[in-house]
Amino acid sequence: MHSSTEQSRRLRAQQNEDWQRPRYHFSPPANWMNDPNGIMEWQGEIHLFYQHNPYAPIWDNMHWGHAVSEDLVHWADLPIALAPGSGGPDADGCWSGCTVNNDERPTILYTGVQGDWAAPQNQRVCLATSRDGLNTWQKYAGNPVIAHPPDGLDVNGFRDPFVWREDGQWFMAIGAGIRDIGGAVLLYRSADLLRWQYLHPLCIGDMQDASDPWTGVLWEVPQLHRLGDAHILIATIWDNDPLYSVYFSGRYRNHRFIIESADKLDYGDRHFYAAHTIVDSRGRHIMWGFIGEGRSVAAQQAAGWSGVLSLPRVLSLQADGKLAQVPAPEIESLRRKRHRYVNIDLSGDSADLALDARGDALEIVAEFDAGAADEIGIKVRCSPDFEEETYIFYQARPKQLGIDRRRSRRRPASEFSTDVKTGDFELGVDENLRLRIFVDCSVIEVFANDRFCISSRVYPSRADSAGVAVSALGQARIVALDIWTLAAIW
Ligand code: FRU
Repeated sequence: MHSSTEQSRRLRAQQNEDWQRPRYHFSPPANWMNDPNGIMEWQGEIHLFYQHNPYAPIWDNMHWGHAVSEDLVHWADLPIALAPGSGGPDADGCWSGCTVNNDERPTILYTGVQGDWAAPQNQRVCLATSRDGLNTWQKYAGNPVIAHPPDGLDVNGFRDPFVWREDGQWFMAIGAGIRDIGGAVLLYRSADLLRWQYLHPLCIGDMQDASDPWTGVLWEVPQLHRLGDAHILIATIWDNDPLYSVYFSGRYRNHRFIIESADKLDYGDRHFYAAHTIVDSRGRHIMWGFIGEGRSVAAQQAAGWSGVLSLPRVLSLQADGKLAQVPAPEIESLRRKRHRYVNIDLSGDSADLALDARGDALEIVAEFDAGAADEIGIKVRCSPDFEEETYIFYQARPKQLGIDRRRSRRRPASEFSTDVKTGDFELGVDENLRLRIFVDCSVIEVFANDRFCISSRVYPSRADSAGVAVSALGQARIVALDIWTLAAIW
């Protein structure tokens, strides 16, 4: 049983009044976070590491923050695991990477950055180990373990090692892009985690391919996972700006991955970034992503914190080869007060039927019979007069699911993202729409029929923007709707 450090408790307490700060999603004690890194189950607990700037709520000076959980829900803050070293290959940042259990010796492989971070030759693979159950970390004196990108390859990035064991050896995938060709994952092999041999690209994308989603020029934080009999390759697409995380379905043969199809992991794009998946001791694939802010740097600085971790999502493959994602059932332990509604007829003009359930930390589970409706949806974070509202909707033509945050915040709105994001989503014949929506102050995570996710950020200006409403254009029916208030995790 761990407890948070005194300093982190104090930092968290200072921000208790901030009603945009999520209460049941993990975020650092203060200041900045981005990617989840090297999440590891160790002696029955889940250790979370994450990209962290402990000094300011902006991306800079990357450390590995550290927290631990017994239940995937509640976290205790632990001391920082890795900090940039003076003068070494990680002098200017400890960027993303992974952890492995090397014969009972926990080991981190991460990206050390020294000098201009944008230059791929300044991104090097470094290693650290722990002798005390992940509490403190010692950097390997011989760092870096990979000093430069492979000779003869013109890469635009070289980072984020992901390591696994196969055929009695270690394999490492590194995120990269090959200039003028596309994103790439480079493959290395080692017997001891220290000496690495470059093999070949595990996979190369095609930046000229215009199909949806576009797979860009550089792949960050790659991961290769086996799900049942199939493999997926997860990558995060960067194009001078964070775009989105994707997964490729395909074949993994002879240490090469042949892409058959690609899809976004979450249609919230940069609001679910740098996806990181582990296999827990029960054999579940559990994925987290980084949910970045949707407000200006000035607003982040004023708040004193920036960046949130998504809820843990359990992955599986559907019969059609597409990825299914459901929130880890452990989250249900946060459910408190429940409102239940059944069989609500939404025919006619039932635009904005306000419900009596309210709150800014909610889980909503809704099943709609979409009938012949043109559009059905749920509004959250609504003010009583609907001046402010965030609308999650399904529309029949074209068949899409989306989040409309054009009215999420009315005054002042200029520093906040206001857009409509959608993704193609089709219901089967006679299939009901099943929405599972998590509202956590400024965080929204939506799961539709276990196969489509869209995450977002909203920052209502009014304290009374805590309402929930349902609406339909055309004829539809709510089969059942449950709304729980969720408890805070801190
Ligand atoms: C992804 C990423 C990684 C990099 C890290 C730096 O968000 O850009 O490629 O290692 O963040 O913080």
